[in-house]
Amino acid sequence: LRSKVTIVGAGQTGGAMARELAPKGIADIVLLDVAEGVPQGKALDMSQAAPIVGFDCKIVGTNDWKDSAASDIIIITSGKPRMPGMSRDDLVTANTEIVKSVVQQAIAQSPNAIIIVFVNPLDVMCYVAKKISGFPRERVFGQSGVLDAARFRTFIARELDVSSEDVQAYVLGGHGDDMVPLVRHTTVCGIPISELMAAERIAALVERTRKGGGEIVNLLKTGSAYYAPAAATIQMVESVLLDRKRVMPCAVYLEGEFGVSGIFMGVPVKLGARGVEQIIEIKLTDEERAMFERSAASVREVTKVTGL
Ligand SMILES: NC(=O)c1ccc[n+]([C@@H]2O[C@H](COP(=O)([O-])OP(=O)(O)OC[C@H]3O[C@@H](n4cnc5c(N)ncnc54)[C@H](O)[C@@H]3O)[C@@H](O)[C@H]2O)c1
Repeated sequence: LRSKVTIVGAGQTGGAMARELAPKGIADIVLLDVAEGVPQGKALDMSQAAPIVGFDCKIVGTNDWKDSAASDIIIITSGKPRMPGMSRDDLVTANTEIVKSVVQQAIAQSPNAIIIVFVNPLDVMCYVAKKISGFPRERVFGQSGVLDAARFRTFIARELDVSSEDVQAYVLGGHGDDMVPLVRHTTVCGIPISELMAAERIAALVERTRKGGGEIVNLLKTGSAYYAPAAATIQMVESVLLDRKRVMPCAVYLEGEFGVSGIFMGVPVKLGARGVEQIIEIKLTDEERAMFERSAASVREVTKVTGL
């Protein structure tokens, strides 16, 4: 029996996630949206790629929560994306209401699911999902760091003209412009980038990573990124469904780790069948800690706006 993954929101990112997950063959997929016809149309279209691409999983498009029953994972992408000139935090009021209602409906059908939150402002929407579901923190977490690190890795790989697969990087903190790329732990096959690149170039790439989402919003003008964000989310889904126990930066509810409590922040975690199986604390330098605390303060500020 295949696992079951429900993707809530069949927009740009939800659709891209289904298309990314289907060829892996590890889960049947339910694509759910309030818009009538859109999830059904996308699911049918994707199903017709099966004979060409070669996969057997079922992809169902629906407006009915009953079709999501007994999902192993619920991914929440239903929310407004940024437009040029907006920060992720500008979305908080509208998206809090959507995430609240979606979580209530999702857990009524799938009380044992793992919830992966994707809607922005990411760390705050994770908080809403945790509060409303009452799920333990192992089963509610968010996608942020895998994407942010992938952006940093891409920029470094292009600069050095090496394969991006050989660049390892960690980006911690909130999923906003004050995220914390950990330069000290960024290497090309174990070689610190400080040995391969001038400090000014590293600083420029850190800055481009921080604003990486905004760069794409400004180019697209009608919404935000979806290919890389979808790939990042599906890598997390795979680690859970196959119990791979990969170590990846994810947004989790902190209870004292990294000196922070009561909010979601991106930190390294082990993802396996039980969800977040371990939070991996690393020692930060004074400078990194100061950046992490600045990021935490801004997440805390926006979290208050939810009134939860
Ligand atoms: N975490 C990340 O790395 C990351 C990356 C990119 C985008 N995002 C965020 O993801 C969200 C979605 O982005 P997108 O580009 O897919 O937007 P989109 O507008 O293309 O899709 C959102 C979909 O959600 C649906 N929806 C709205 N309310 C709903 C509800 N109550 N129930 C079910 N479906 C509902 C809409 O009909 C729409 O189809 C945004 O908040 C965006 O900022 C996060």
